[in-house]
Amino acid sequence: MGDIKVFKTVVSIQSILQFDYKKSKIGLVPTMGALHEGHMTLVQRSIKENDCTIVSIFVNPIQFNNASDLENYPRNMEQDLQLLKEQGDVIVFAPSVSEVYPENFQTVKLELGQMGLVMEGKFREGHFDGVVNVVNRLFEIIHPAHAYFGLKDFQQLAVVQYMTKKFALDLKIVGCEIYREKSGLASSSRNQRLTESQLIEALVISQALKQAKISAIDKSIQEVIEEAKRIFAASSLELEYFQIVDPTTLMDLKEWKSGAHACLTAYCGEVRLLDNLQLKPA
Ligand code: PAF
Repeated sequence: MGDIKVFKTVVSIQSILQFDYKKSKIGLVPTMGALHEGHMTLVQRSIKENDCTIVSIFVNPIQFNNASDLENYPRNMEQDLQLLKEQGDVIVFAPSVSEVYPENFQTVKLELGQMGLVMEGKFREGHFDGVVNVVNRLFEIIHPAHAYFGLKDFQQLAVVQYMTKKFALDLKIVGCEIYREKSGLASSSRNQRLTESQLIEALVISQALKQAKISAIDKSIQEVIEEAKRIFAASSLELEYFQIVDPTTLMDLKEWKSGAHACLTAYCGEVRLLDNLQLKPA
């Protein structure tokens, strides 16, 4: 069991970083809490690669474009702290909204171009402005050497990498593989909102992606997309999008290329689930 220290204010976390961890290499794992095994793989990696690991737990209101999604986002601080304790020594930064966004807070604007207009950018207006602002603010407060993000949020990782380059930030963004349950379901905080039967219904997501990878061997992109749409039409999930994109620009592909990636979002009841899979080797 590790030692967990929790800080709720910017002043308190900055003073411990300045006095006790001045020369330390800091790893940051930004989260919105409701932690799961997927987060733990990020935490483990950070513990291995840094002198000190900070996990931020902050449900960022400005990245939600839907009030009920924000309200229903799972929160469970006690359980989160217990899970983190099992990983080793971790510092938790769990600020309030007014700590992250004080009255004099100046929002940053990052022009994302097409990357910000497709997939999540198209279906969740303003989402990436919120992500860019909170991640940039966390970087400003903590000054990590490494920051860890899951590949499940494939577009988010691309946006954060782009932001780091554009703002010339002095840190390394580390993308970590998707953690999947034995069933194939990608770990997500939102899975906590699924009923027993929905957990089974949601398996169509990983099954459709696996099928797309098989079909990508000898079918065209259009055929693979049509097949995925048929799989969802025969299920109880409502597909929002299924796209096959360039892994760097996130633009739809017309012809196969190395690293081609399938990205999708589907509703299982009220719960919006996200997943992706690389269909062609990079
Ligand atoms: O992926 C998430 O949990 C959030 O988008 C992040 C990166 C913590 C920013 O709020």
